[in-house]
Amino acid sequence: MTTQKNATLSLDGQSYEFPVLSGTIGPDVIDIRSLYAKSGAFTFDPGFMSTAACKSSITYIDGDKGELMYRGYPIEQLAKNANFLETCYLLKNGELPNQAEYDVFESTVRKHTMVHEQLTRLYQGFRRDAHPMAILVGVVGALSAYYQDSLDINNPEHRMIAAIRLIAKMPTIVAMAYKYTQGQPFMFPRNDLNYAENFLHMMFATPCEEYKPNPVLARALDRILILHADHEQNASTSTVRLSGSSGANPFACIAAGIACLWGPAHGGANEACLVMLDDIMKQGGVAKIGEFIDKVKDKNSGVKLMGFGHRVYKNYDPRATLMRETCHEVLNELGLQDDPMFKLAMALEKIALEDEYFVSRKLYPNVDFYSGIVQKAMGIPVPLFTGIFALARTIGWIAQWHEMIGDPEQKIGRPRQLYTGAAQRDVKPIAQR
Ligand code: CMC
Repeated sequence: MTTQKNATLSLDGQSYEFPVLSGTIGPDVIDIRSLYAKSGAFTFDPGFMSTAACKSSITYIDGDKGELMYRGYPIEQLAKNANFLETCYLLKNGELPNQAEYDVFESTVRKHTMVHEQLTRLYQGFRRDAHPMAILVGVVGALSAYYQDSLDINNPEHRMIAAIRLIAKMPTIVAMAYKYTQGQPFMFPRNDLNYAENFLHMMFATPCEEYKPNPVLARALDRILILHADHEQNASTSTVRLSGSSGANPFACIAAGIACLWGPAHGGANEACLVMLDDIMKQGGVAKIGEFIDKVKDKNSGVKLMGFGHRVYKNYDPRATLMRETCHEVLNELGLQDDPMFKLAMALEKIALEDEYFVSRKLYPNVDFYSGIVQKAMGIPVPLFTGIFALARTIGWIAQWHEMIGDPEQKIGRPRQLYTGAAQRDVKPIAQR
């Protein structure tokens, strides 16, 4: 980080100098930490449109160019030359593993896939029709009650064990949320299967017959996990960092991230996208796309084209390109190319990519547009989509949390505000109000 440049702010006839910091790549930042002390003023930036909240060496996005890199490696190369567990190792440790390092890491993760037996009882407390994200927020937060030997955030050994537990147990926890809502028995993890295969097994196997995971679907799932593994300082990651900044334990912080991810403007978009497709299908399918697009363009309708647009990518979302490829692979493998819902999605994509409203606003399909379609084709129920996003993003949250804990400049996160309420006034006794 260099500090050769300065920025000058003038306010009420006074000038203030601030250092400008440069990262490896990306925009410079003006270090305004001393602004309030020097000038008595705050900055105002709701939605963090121009504010870097931390330093990070994990993930880099160039939204204008449509680039995404984990630890300097382009997402396209990771998706083709690495699997999800290699990606986890990379995000967490900063480097890709060699074969020996990978073998140790993989076998450690495999050995932690089971959950505490008492935790399985916790599920019984939920209604069968509970949304899986409601279950996940509760169960992941509850891990802090079951794994009390890894809660000391100042102990590197505890932090490492908590990280492994989360990576290893999230597939089990997510699959159990599904099985519970189906009224089916929980399936124990099978440690002879790889990470993605094991998740499919816990989702779709039953004790009554043998289940063989389809390798094309397992690869597709692995790719979904890689593409969603981290995305720098997005809403849920910032939530994890903010929660962690108070010294909260990692399980509680990840539960906070899951809660934030649930929203339809974030991880809930893939579910919202499928709900939208379903609605258009009910109204008449492809023939009704024109009418639907008109509604999207009408600002008073409150209707958005879910799975389109992104705060950061104002070019194509690079994850969407890879997911689109996987989407066609999966539809072909399952013989679903002519399924009416998938035809509708493809028609919607084509029209929106050509329509002036979307083109002029740089609204492209994002990763969730395609990941929803892939998951639906794989037989994953729509309400579980965001849960799978949470499973993938857990490693990103852990890596970012870990980085924050190790940062000597880390302070408790405490935004300031522009107060617009009443000025001081007197409280009259109730009879006089
Ligand atoms: N459909 C219709 N219009 C849209 C959409 C959309 N999906 N997204 C943005 N716009 C319009 C918006 O109304 C605004 O129009 P105008 O300039 O006329 O007022 C313009 O495009 C710019 O939008 P914005 O609201 O300034 O963009 P933002 O950066 O605040 O919002 C977003 C980004 C992702 C919240 C938004 O695009 C959206 O709600 N998309 C649908 C939900 C979705 O797919 N979310 C998943 C994001 S990817 C997963 C992840 O990384 O979490």
